[in-house]
Amino acid sequence: MATETLIPSSANRVLRVGILGFGTVGSGAYRMLKDNRDAIQRKVGFGMEVVRIGIRDIGKPRDLPSDLFTDDLESIVDDPSIDVILELIGGVDPAGRLVERALNNGKNVVTANKELMAKEGSRLVHLAKSKGLDLHYEAAVGGGIPIVQPLKHQLAGNDVLKMMGILNGTTNYILTKMSRENADFGDVLAEAQAKGYAESDPTNDIDGFDTTYKISILASIAFGKQVPVAGVYREGIRSITKEDIRYADVLGYVIKLLGIVEPLSADRLLVRVHPTLIPKGHQLASVSDVYNALWIHGDFVGDLMFSGRGAGSDPTASAVIGDLIDVGRNVAIGGQGSAIPWDMGIETEPIESLETEYYLRLRVKDKPKVLGQLAMIFGEFDVSLAAMEMRVVDAVAELGEIVFLTHKCNEGNFRKALAEVGKSDIVDRVCNWIRVEG
Ligand SMILES: NC(=O)c1ccc[n+]([C@@H]2O[C@H](COP(=O)([O-])OP(=O)(O)OC[C@H]3O[C@@H](n4cnc5c(N)ncnc54)[C@H](OP(=O)(O)O)[C@@H]3O)[C@@H](O)[C@H]2O)c1
Repeated sequence: MATETLIPSSANRVLRVGILGFGTVGSGAYRMLKDNRDAIQRKVGFGMEVVRIGIRDIGKPRDLPSDLFTDDLESIVDDPSIDVILELIGGVDPAGRLVERALNNGKNVVTANKELMAKEGSRLVHLAKSKGLDLHYEAAVGGGIPIVQPLKHQLAGNDVLKMMGILNGTTNYILTKMSRENADFGDVLAEAQAKGYAESDPTNDIDGFDTTYKISILASIAFGKQVPVAGVYREGIRSITKEDIRYADVLGYVIKLLGIVEPLSADRLLVRVHPTLIPKGHQLASVSDVYNALWIHGDFVGDLMFSGRGAGSDPTASAVIGDLIDVGRNVAIGGQGSAIPWDMGIETEPIESLETEYYLRLRVKDKPKVLGQLAMIFGEFDVSLAAMEMRVVDAVAELGEIVFLTHKCNEGNFRKALAEVGKSDIVDRVCNWIRVEG
């Protein structure tokens, strides 16, 4: 069987690596080990040998000796000579089963799998801990941006008071392009799909699932308890129009899909994913195209921002190999693994408990006293209007468009007010409403 020592050993120890998955991330991780072998060797001082690579389609042409590959992935996680498994397949099954089996067989694991960690992270990290093994997952959130390790270690002494992240490159690319080119969502999505920036089935990105997995992982690390995916409020970007982006711009804001976590008390979190207006002066506002970023406010560290490439073969490989080196260092000193477990479950609050400001776009009948009547309805629900833009959209039908920003108010109240406004005979249509942050 062909094996390749990618990092020559300067000591007797050679870390034997099995890779599950050889797609975008798996092939990038392999290439990084190969291209940077001398630099890594200098830094870590021990050898690394890729023993076997597991894939699904054994007939697919690959640039490496064919006997390195197998479609029998169990044989890799059962191989007693392998020290570390890189799980780079994705999805919950068979990836979760293989990770569990690898840990039960005494192997350290590095994964890039956000869905698996968001859904099964607590159980798997506990398993790793109980076996004295490592389970690292830096690449699962923010691709090449180091976020997971700083949250676990350097920032662990802080009370995290708020985190807001642009955690999905596809949606950030689409919103950036809609804004720059005054383009419609559908046209930009089609172009992103043609260029390979968006999947042919874009649901995972566009409807906020990907961001939900990532923010649930970050919240679980920051608060030490698994935040269930079902406890994250989720909205995607399909409803955002170029009109909303233009009004936001006039009012001094940009629109981003954010994952947001904030504690409402010691044991209750509000975790949400939705399009958000943020002021142009906020650090997150300038994070454009496919870039990702995480903004953190900690009680001692204050404001902090991490940004960089959130996906792609090379940046993600950088995070995977960083984790692999960490495992190797631990194995080299005969360490016990450094998995940091999350306890099961934390209460998450419903979105109706949110207190924030809102952007609201209404199509109204162009009648006298419209503004006064709207202010009165909102006032009945403790929602006060802060700023406004107005334009006539159809002079013949006497229709106008009004955009409001509210002062901070309760979401439950805001939704009740909207229901009343929608019934009013002065309102033709509630076009859109978006939460405001920052
Ligand atoms: N792509 C990114 O930029 C990125 C960024 C951060 C994190 N991630 C995460 O990294 C992981 C891998 O993503 P990717 O983009 O590299 O995926 P990918 O390009 O689709 O590659 C997946 C690999 O896994 C193999 N595979 C899939 N299902 C399998 C099965 N049932 N049995 C055996 N092998 C199977 C495929 O085999 P074949 O080669 O035979 O098809 C392929 O080699 C995912 O968890 C993803 O969320 C990706």
